[in-house]
Amino acid sequence: MIPFNKPYCTGKEKELFEDVIKRGKFSGNGYYTQLCQKYFESKYGFKKCLLTTSCTDALEMCAILTDIGFGDEVIIPSYTFVSSALAFVRQGAKIVFADSTKKNPNIDPDSIKKVITTKTKAIVVVHYAGCACDMDRIGDIAKKHGLMIIEDAAQAIDSYYISAKTGNRMPLGSLGDVAAFSFHETKNIQSGEGGLLVINNEKLINRSEIVWEKGTNRSEFFRGEVNKYEWVDFGSSFLASEYTAAFLYAQLLEMDIIQKRRIDIWNQYNYGLKDIKDIMIPEIPDNCTNNAHIFYFVCQSLEDRSDLITWMKQHEVQLVFHYLCLHKSKFYKKYDPAFSNISLPYSDYYTENLVRLPLYFDLTNEEVQIVIGLIREFFTKK
Ligand SMILES: Cc1ncc(COP(=O)(O)O)c(C=O)c1O
Repeated sequence: MIPFNKPYCTGKEKELFEDVIKRGKFSGNGYYTQLCQKYFESKYGFKKCLLTTSCTDALEMCAILTDIGFGDEVIIPSYTFVSSALAFVRQGAKIVFADSTKKNPNIDPDSIKKVITTKTKAIVVVHYAGCACDMDRIGDIAKKHGLMIIEDAAQAIDSYYISAKTGNRMPLGSLGDVAAFSFHETKNIQSGEGGLLVINNEKLINRSEIVWEKGTNRSEFFRGEVNKYEWVDFGSSFLASEYTAAFLYAQLLEMDIIQKRRIDIWNQYNYGLKDIKDIMIPEIPDNCTNNAHIFYFVCQSLEDRSDLITWMKQHEVQLVFHYLCLHKSKFYKKYDPAFSNISLPYSDYYTENLVRLPLYFDLTNEEVQIVIGLIREFFTKK
């Protein structure tokens, strides 16, 4: 069977685990946590980074830090993972869904404009498959209405956006007030479970360590800035342990090798499938880079997609669909019955028709060609 995903280990993880044991500090915010945070801050120029136990946790920190709560509205794409919305629901805010674009599952700026009200406080953008949302337009909308931008960059490590306005090439995760990355085992760089909070808005930096450390000023205490530490704010236990950080650091040491291989596999799929008339392979816009997190295409119908997944399974290849649009979820129907009936046609379109192919470091070129051959055979016979 060629599975959809196989988490990659670099081989250095064991050695770094042993070093954690030697150092004798296992909880968070130790040597490897600092190394990882510094790596991200220096490689991508992020103002402040905090390692978390997941992207879900990092998003919850985003909701706390941006002070989003009762009476506020947050605009979120419906075609995303539950965590993008749940963080704000937990804070008591009202979530409002916007549609995806026709050309890819990213949030549509025109759809955002339609749902802005005087209560809107923030826009959550999800860079689907590591390909940037239309940040020039979304930035303009946010500025005009005084809204914050939260980047759900779960899939977006090592990907860039080139602004048409400034010509600047900026890493995803640096484009909002705050951003959240995932290092779940399905991601390009992984630590089993894991995440990263990026704080770009300087006004939110001081509070971030406190929220991260269960609402206490423990980090200040350990730096000798206060002579006792105490409960000062909201927070939770968002820190990742040193084992998670060490595992992640082993992966970061091989980031370029991992990315190169994934991009090579992505290009092979694109080359081998792009002429099939029955599918739409979204193009990477000229002002976006491709971090090869996902190779996906869109079938012409739910029936085509189901038949394809079944046919591939019969031939020992696992293809998988992705999100179920949130505005039609069981939870949201109860939470906001009136809004759950709105029409978001592209969220429905990707929910029903999008399919993802196996993509992982250890996938061989022979296996990639098997997958391509079987997909071509399916659509020729259809
Ligand atoms: C867009 C998006 N946001 C958030 C998450 C949650 O990430 P994690 O599993 O690290 O909490 C995911 C999970 O894949 C995701 O796809």
